[in-house]
Parts: sequence; C-alpha cells; structure tokens
Amino acid sequence: MAVHAPENILHQHSFDIEGGNFTNAGTVSTRIKSILKQIGLPDNVVRKSAIVCYESEINIVSYARKGVINLIVTPKTVEIEAIDEGPGIPNIELAMQQGYSTANQHIREMGFGAGMGLHNIKCFSDKFDISSEVDKGTFLKMIINTP
Ligand SMILES: Nc1ncnc2c1ncn2[C@@H]1O[C@H](COP(=O)(O)OP(=O)(O)O)[C@@H](O)[C@H]1O
Ligand SMILES: [Mg+2]
Repeated sequence: MAVHAPENILHQHSFDIEGGNFTNAGTVSTRIKSILKQIGLPDNVVRKSAIVCYESEINIVSYARKGVINLIVTPKTVEIEAIDEGPGIPNIELAMQQGYSTANQHIREMGFGAGMGLHNIKCFSDKFDISSEVDKGTFLKMIINTP
C-alpha cells in the first residue's frame, strides 16, 4: 500500500475480491462511493473514483483468481490500487486499446467485455500506473486529485 505519513491519511480501507464471483461484482465500488460521499468529497471526484474502482473490480472478477482493492484518501488525493493474482496481461499496450477484449462468452452475456475498462480507467484518473507479470498478476494504481 502507498506510504503516507499517518496524519496525511483521512481514510484507508482494503477490500478483498474473489475471481469469478459475478454475484458480488460491483459491491466494492458501491462501498467506496458511499465512503467518499460520507467524507464529503465533491461529486465529480466521487464519480471518477467509483468508475475506476468499478472497472478494476470487474476486471479482477472477470480475469483473475483473486485480488484486493486498496482505498487511501489523503487531503489532496483519492488513491485506488487494484492488485490481483491471476494470468497477468501479456501486452499492456494492446489491452489499453479501446475495444480490445479477451472476455469470453460467459462474461459478454453478462454485459461486460466492451474493451473500454482500462481506457476509461486511464481517462478518469489524474495519474495512472499499470504493471503486470504473466502467470503472476496485475497491479493498477489510480490517483484522483481532490480540489
Ligand atoms: N486484471 C486483469 N488480469 C488479466 N487480464 C486483464 C486484467 N484486466 C484487463 N485484462 C485484459 O485486458 C483486456 C482489456 O480490459 P478492459 O479494457 O477492462 O476491457 P474488457 O474487460 O471489457 O475486456 C481484457 O479483455 C483482458 O484481456
Ligand atoms: Mg474490463
């Protein structure tokens, strides 16, 4: 998790995510949204955070064995990390392209797999980092600035 001086952390929480569990898919982003609203952050910050969290969460459920989403709120930022154990992404540049998806039939039937997730995560983040190792897992870090 990101290193911050304790006095600079307004809120911190980790959420576990189970790969393949589409019944619960979306619950972490819903919880993060209500936490951020409760803290009193502006609507656009809450909305962007919820979108990047949701897309990361759906990707962990869709592609990974398991993962964790870390939320860290500081006076100037909302930081969201999505870390999973799974197949990893062999070609990140390709995966980032709009419309690129390896989602299977099962995932598509549930309405996912449009290939816009990573692209939208990047668009809605003020800072975005991604790294991945094949057969190990994927690490995403999104930072959204607060006014
Ligand atoms: N956490 C992940 N683990 C493994 N592969 C992933 C992960 N996230 C994304 N991918 C790969 O990147 C592709 C693009 O992801 P995304 O833009 O979210 O679109 P979609 O999920 O609709 O396919 C996915 O189809 C998948 O191949
Ligand atoms: Mg996706």
